[in-house]
Parts: sequence; C-alpha cells; structure tokens
Amino acid sequence: MRLTGRNIELTIDNLIVNYDDEGDEKAPVIIFIHGFPLNKSMWDMQVDALKDTYRVIAYDIRGHGNSDAGDAKFSIDLFVNDLICLMEALELDNVMLCSLSMGGYIALRAIENYPELFSALILSDTQCTADTPEGIEKRLKAIESIKESGVEEYADESIKNLFAAESFTTRIKEIAAVKNMIVEMSVESLSNTLLALSRRAETYGKLQNIKMPVLIMVGSEDKITPLSTAQVMHERIPDSFLKVIAHAGHLANLENPSVFNHHLKKFLHRFAKKQFHYS
Ligand code: MLT
Repeated sequence: MRLTGRNIELTIDNLIVNYDDEGDEKAPVIIFIHGFPLNKSMWDMQVDALKDTYRVIAYDIRGHGNSDAGDAKFSIDLFVNDLICLMEALELDNVMLCSLSMGGYIALRAIENYPELFSALILSDTQCTADTPEGIEKRLKAIESIKESGVEEYADESIKNLFAAESFTTRIKEIAAVKNMIVEMSVESLSNTLLALSRRAETYGKLQNIKMPVLIMVGSEDKITPLSTAQVMHERIPDSFLKVIAHAGHLANLENPSVFNHHLKKFLHRFAKKQFHYS
C-alpha cells in the first residue's frame, strides 16, 4: 500500500530513507534530488506547486536531512544506487527527475546508467565536469576547517556563496532555513559528502546520448555553477532548453521560486503533452 504525505520513513538495506510523496498515484511522477549540504525541504515550494498535477516525491540523500548515513563510503554512484533502490521499493519507472547541483550530478549519472527508467530531466545550477585539482584542494581544506572550527562556521561561509547578494535582504527566511539545514548535518556526513564530490567523475562525455527533453536552469548570479557551465550542458544535450533565473544565485528555486516554478511547470506541461518545442 502506498503511503502519502511528508516525512515518510522507508527502510532499505537496513537504512532509513526519509521522503515526501504527494499527489495522485496515477499522475506522472517527478522525483526531486536536493543539493549539498541541504535536504529535501529545499524543494517545499516546488512540491506545493506541483502536487495537484503530478505525483511528487522528494527524498533526503543518505547522511542528509533525516535519512540514515550508513557505513559505506559515500560516492555519487552510491547515491545513484540509493535512488534506484528507492524507485524499486516504490515500484516507479518512467520518472522525471528535477535536480539541483549535487542532485544534478546524481541525476546525470542515473540517466547515463539507467536511461530506460527516466523520461525527462530538469537540471538546475549544476555542472557536468569533475572537480579541478584546485577544487579538490578546497574540499579537503573545508573538511579540515569543519573539524577545527565546527559546522556553524562552515554554514556561515557556505551561505555567502550559495545566495545572490540581493537575497541577503530579500530572502532572509530562506537563508535562515538553509543555514539550519547545514547546521543539522553531522561533521561525518559533511566530510564524507565533500570527499564524494571531490572524487566524482565527469558526465560531459555522455551528454549527447541523452534522449529525453531536458530543462536547464541557472541563477543569473550563481557563483558556484555559473551560466557558462549551464551553456556547456545546453550545447551538448540535443533536446535541451536553457533558462536563466534572474535575482538568484546558486539556489534558484529558493531565491526566485515564482520564475523557477513558471519554467518548471511550462516544461512539464509541454512534455506531458509530448510537445518538446519549448520557447
Ligand atoms: C551543491 O549545491 O550541491 C554543491 O554546491 C555542489 C558542489 O559543491 O559541487
């Protein structure tokens, strides 16, 4: 029997996965994959906007939010495996994925390995390249500084890069919520995810094989994965559309939800009608 609502707990391989599942069981399914170091609640405004039309699932990646971390070494491939196990447990295929940043790394790898399970993709504020040596160095330094100075200081530093300058006056509530999400993470899960991100492989080489409609969105002020990284994916993915979200940094869905949701709904609506000519 399907369980519906928020904060449902499912045990897969002895680990609790926490997820939301809203909307009609027979409606097209969309799964939301959050960024690092956040959790599924970053998608609340999108879940609310779509649940009357779609079956909407948002889950906490292992070690984030209220999902167990387990003992395995974190990697993007492990996170992909977790996604596939969740889909199997819920008996889902023909799924549309909506992802942001780390969520995009997971979504792109999932579609590369299991293309038959997915029918459309939304990539927000993400990229298809691996970390540069300097990027890896920064991650390792971040792990050291979390151990030395604690999670709160790491949260304050992260927030400076996650949001557009104007959001610090216009999105006070969202910034507080994001800080809270980061502060609630354990030192161990933060460090293990940073290592997983630093070791991830590129997905650029397989982008031209993606055979489904893809909507790429990016905040105009995104400093972490800027417009140029979105353009690289757009040029490489055959059936892709690119939308720049004004008044937003790296967390476009939280910083400008009305424009983000407008593009999301329009894309999904046209996709559902099999009209892929999105303008
Ligand atoms: C995220 O938002 O998921 C992170 O910025 C991803 C990353 O650090 O590569």
